[in-house]
Amino acid sequence: MQSYRKLIAKRLHQDFNSAVEIVEVSISAPANHEILIRNKFAGINAGFDTLLCRGEVPYVNLTPPFDLGVEAVGEVVAVGENVSDFQVGDAVITTLRGGGYREYQVIDASLAVKVQEATPEVLNLVPTGVSALVALEQVGEMQNNEVVLVTAAAGGTGHIAVQLAKLAGNYVIGTCSSAAKAKLLRELGCDRIINYHTENLDQVLKHEYPNGINLIFECVGKQVFDTCVANLAIRGRLVSIGYISEYGKHVEQVMQPRIYHQLFWKAASVRGFLMPHYQEYIPEARDRLLNLFYAGKLKVFVDSTEFHGLESIPTAVEYLLSGQNCGKVVVKF
Ligand SMILES: NC(=O)c1ccc[n+]([C@@H]2O[C@H](COP(=O)([O-])OP(=O)(O)OC[C@H]3O[C@@H](n4cnc5c(N)ncnc54)[C@H](OP(=O)(O)O)[C@@H]3O)[C@@H](O)[C@H]2O)c1
Repeated sequence: MQSYRKLIAKRLHQDFNSAVEIVEVSISAPANHEILIRNKFAGINAGFDTLLCRGEVPYVNLTPPFDLGVEAVGEVVAVGENVSDFQVGDAVITTLRGGGYREYQVIDASLAVKVQEATPEVLNLVPTGVSALVALEQVGEMQNNEVVLVTAAAGGTGHIAVQLAKLAGNYVIGTCSSAAKAKLLRELGCDRIINYHTENLDQVLKHEYPNGINLIFECVGKQVFDTCVANLAIRGRLVSIGYISEYGKHVEQVMQPRIYHQLFWKAASVRGFLMPHYQEYIPEARDRLLNLFYAGKLKVFVDSTEFHGLESIPTAVEYLLSGQNCGKVVVKF
């Protein structure tokens, strides 16, 4: 029987690299309703990976050792006796927690989704793009002709959010930290790009958008979050997608007036978003995004830094948390 390797969390640790190890396991033949997939690419979710390895993801209470990685795209290499929807050679995407950072996986066939080709681009649509779409529409109540602000706009999640807000007919502002990222955002049709290394976010928003921002897709946290809250429009909605600026370091303690002082007089709101709590929207969102992508209406950028093999995953996690990436970070197997 052939064997394969996977990355597991062997213990909880503040530092991702110190928490993980590569182990070798044997490949089991798929049961009647299962398929065996050879993973070709996996998406890096550095924030989630790091918090999971610290034991700081409250809705999953895992005790090491546990498997890591979520989304993977690969090729079906064997099918169980009762499987009729898949054939050997099919390209499939999977989004099971623990199914990403491994060379092979055996899963129930009902959990895989066929795609045209096993390319890294589709990894940025499912589940990353799905998160952007559901957060904007279901939580942010996205409309048209509004001013929408996306932070970390050139990142994996952000650059899909920018395009979806544009496709819905909004004026879109995107924040980023480099000229290369600003170039990508220009290609996506972002109306106002704020490179926060060369311009002050708060000053730009106050000066150029005195009526405030209607919808904010906020990925960064810390001072960026505070600035966004302060610049919400009347009845503005801020969707808290994540707080990546805190994942690499310890949480900052802040002392300031309670947040209702900022929200009440504008009837504005701050809403949290977490994909696992919006499962029912996934299939429709996934199909819509894949269709937009295959129709050439949605672009996907994969970061050009190449990461090869399980050994490269800690470096890829560190790279994403350093804030340098442009588009989705993926690892190739
Ligand atoms: N809620 C959910 O269900 C859900 C699902 C998917 C993703 N997310 C969240 O979405 C956010 C983006 O995730 P992603 O995986 O797509 O990452 P990403 O956006 O591809 O990469 C992170 C980006 O954040 C920006 N950033 C700003 N300040 C930073 C700092 N202090 N340290 C590190 N990065 C900083 C960087 O771009 P600039 O420097 O150009 O701003 C960096 O490129 C994260 O907060 C993640 O947790 C949430």
